[in-house]
Amino acid sequence: MTLKNKKLVLCITGSIACYKSIELYRSLKKEGASVTIILSSSASKFISPYIFKSFGEEVYADDAFEIPLAHIELAKTADAIVVAPATYNTINKIACGIADSLITLTVSALGDKPCIIVPAMNNKMYSNEILQENIKKLIQKKYYFVNPTQGELACGDFGEGKFPEIKDIVFEIESVFKNKKFKDKKILITAGATREYIDPVRFISNASSGKMGMALADEAIKLGAEVTLIACNIDIQNLYINKKIKLIKAASFNDLRESLINEFPKNDILIMAAAVSDFGVKEKSPLKIKKANGCSGNTTNIHLNLIQNDDLLKLIAKDKKQEQIIFGFAAETDNIIENAQKKFKEKSLDYIFVNDVTKNIIGSSENEGYLIKIISVNKDKKKDKEKDKDKEKENINGRDITYDDNNYIYTDKEINKNSAIIINKTKNTGETIIKINTYKNHKNNNNEGYNNNRWIEDSDNNLEIKRFERMNKAELAEALLNEL
Ligand code: CTP
Repeated sequence: MTLKNKKLVLCITGSIACYKSIELYRSLKKEGASVTIILSSSASKFISPYIFKSFGEEVYADDAFEIPLAHIELAKTADAIVVAPATYNTINKIACGIADSLITLTVSALGDKPCIIVPAMNNKMYSNEILQENIKKLIQKKYYFVNPTQGELACGDFGEGKFPEIKDIVFEIESVFKNKKFKDKKILITAGATREYIDPVRFISNASSGKMGMALADEAIKLGAEVTLIACNIDIQNLYINKKIKLIKAASFNDLRESLINEFPKNDILIMAAAVSDFGVKEKSPLKIKKANGCSGNTTNIHLNLIQNDDLLKLIAKDKKQEQIIFGFAAETDNIIENAQKKFKEKSLDYIFVNDVTKNIIGSSENEGYLIKIISVNKDKKKDKEKDKDKEKENINGRDITYDDNNYIYTDKEINKNSAIIINKTKNTGETIIKINTYKNHKNNNNEGYNNNRWIEDSDNNLEIKRFERMNKAELAEALLNEL
């Protein structure tokens, strides 16, 4: 639901591709947007307004005189306008400030809200200099364009002018609502699982799908970064990958090692989400290894000679420039925070996100875990302290207790730095049961003291830890990137 609570006006103009706007509409709704439709008179010759009306939507005809001042109201209430498909005529009119229809009038009244234009037309029309100059002019004036793709066009010609993939349009619409915190930053992301071949058909690997790394790559693009993704055996055919991502494929540990060594120096941030094979086969058999004694033979033990691969993060850290950031992942089944802290130190990381892989997250579209970094007097903490001033305070058992937004209780005054307070009841019940846990105690149980909304210090290790509850990988990717 990446467009939850967003109000969009979808303007459909009369390109043959306008039937595809029905699918675009459905995708926008699926992402949680509310969508009002304006259908130009030529578009309504291709598709009927009743299609959208039967979905329960409000549909406006592109007539400036039908409802007085409709354009002002539509522009005021919209968060963004999407013109898709946008014809040669409509784009040129918008660029020249012509406002003679409800669509062009609404665009003219939009102020500084985003307008996303999706051209679709014959390739000769699209490459027409007048149109191209006007597109350039509109881009300078902060209009957003989703470029048409190449292919066979409705008229039978081949060239650039096809309505783009719906996913690319939705991606661009989502992007315009994001802060551009990574503008001018280059981010390198590794994802998926490497494979170590035993013979031409068999390999050692693991079940990592690469979805977390792909979600990070998508979100990093939306936040304005230039992204390179090293994809290790990801089923890219069945997953969406945005065209702005520079894609490098790596199959084995050695491929990944080589690409990483080449790419790392060109980037500001490395996010190492790939599940790297820790062990390789000493000698890959050039031929398929046959069962001993054929199919009917007795079971015989087969011995594989494995060698331990280098740790890539350790290798990369040697050449790390001070301003570069390295973000690692950890997959753990037990003592997850302690193990992740160990990896954090051994691999000289700036951040590590640890997953408890017993929680059914491998291959899932959701994830959860803990983010760990070195204790810093950072902006977040100052902000938290500011927020605390306004929070409701209470004195229970001689301790100053503060309620946060979720009605959990915490304090950092009366309890020493290694302790957290957990409440089992909300303040609204009037009943308050307090449990005081030290980190040392709850490291081995459910890590309950770690809070979803704030960093908790582990001063023994000079680290701080933030919990991220289960959410879909796109949401988690955005939340993690916003911590950097
Ligand atoms: N990693 C790496 N090189 C390896 C193995 C892992 O750079 N040979 C990286 C992973 O990409 C990840 C982090 O190190 O960012 C932790 O990976 P994980 O599999 O959790 O741990 P390992 O270091 O392999 O340790 P272990 O398998 O013993 O838990």
